[in-house]
Amino acid sequence: MDIPHPGARAAHARELAETRAFFARRAADWDSKYPDDSPRYAAAIADTGLTTGQFVLDAGCGTGRALPLLRAAVGPTGTVLGVDLTPEMLDRATAHRAEAFLVRADCTRLPLPDAVADLVFGAGLISHLPDPTAGLRELARVTRPGGRLALFHPLGRAALAARKGHPLTPDDLRARAHLHPLLRTTGWTPLSYTDEPTRYLSLATRTP
Ligand SMILES: C[S@@+](CC[C@H](N)C(=O)[O-])C[C@H]1O[C@@H](n2cnc3c(N)ncnc32)[C@H](O)[C@@H]1O
Repeated sequence: MDIPHPGARAAHARELAETRAFFARRAADWDSKYPDDSPRYAAAIADTGLTTGQFVLDAGCGTGRALPLLRAAVGPTGTVLGVDLTPEMLDRATAHRAEAFLVRADCTRLPLPDAVADLVFGAGLISHLPDPTAGLRELARVTRPGGRLALFHPLGRAALAARKGHPLTPDDLRARAHLHPLLRTTGWTPLSYTDEPTRYLSLATRTP
């Protein structure tokens, strides 16, 4: 990745610290707050095309809700790696240590070689990245050509905005009109886009 200006680096570090603090406060009751989402995660993972033996990166894995489902998809010969910025969220994810490797890292600067992942699964991640362009580029860097990106949420955009008690804004990054051009400039080719009350799923493939 490009070496950022020191001012930009400091701003990035500040934004990461805010994100970390935000999720640190929510880690303890994260799983109990959303107990019924598992079938939606499973259905989304089934639609990614992930198969036995593959390498999947759960970017922003949080408490690890998706990790057992990702392990089930890749089987014992596959690799599941969960990465998250917030130690308190990752502490909870250690319950899934038998199913996945866990690493504390910033998804915009991953300690991974190029082209290692068959799939990047990012649930609830994209709207928390301080620089989504840099984040999507970095996720593309670690994905093999032809590999995939799944940006998922168990609620569609309108339902999520309603749950948070604010209106859906026209500049929402996850709207197709914003997301697809961004994907195209960061190394991805959009494949499909679903935004329904109980599913947000954007699938893209790593542009060769
Ligand atoms: C909305 S939560 C979703 C957690 C989990 N994927 C799930 O579906 O339950 C977003 C997660 O992304 C993590 N996160 C946000 N920005 C990140 C970054 N730049 N690098 C790594 N993790 C990040 C947060 O710490 C948080 O755990």
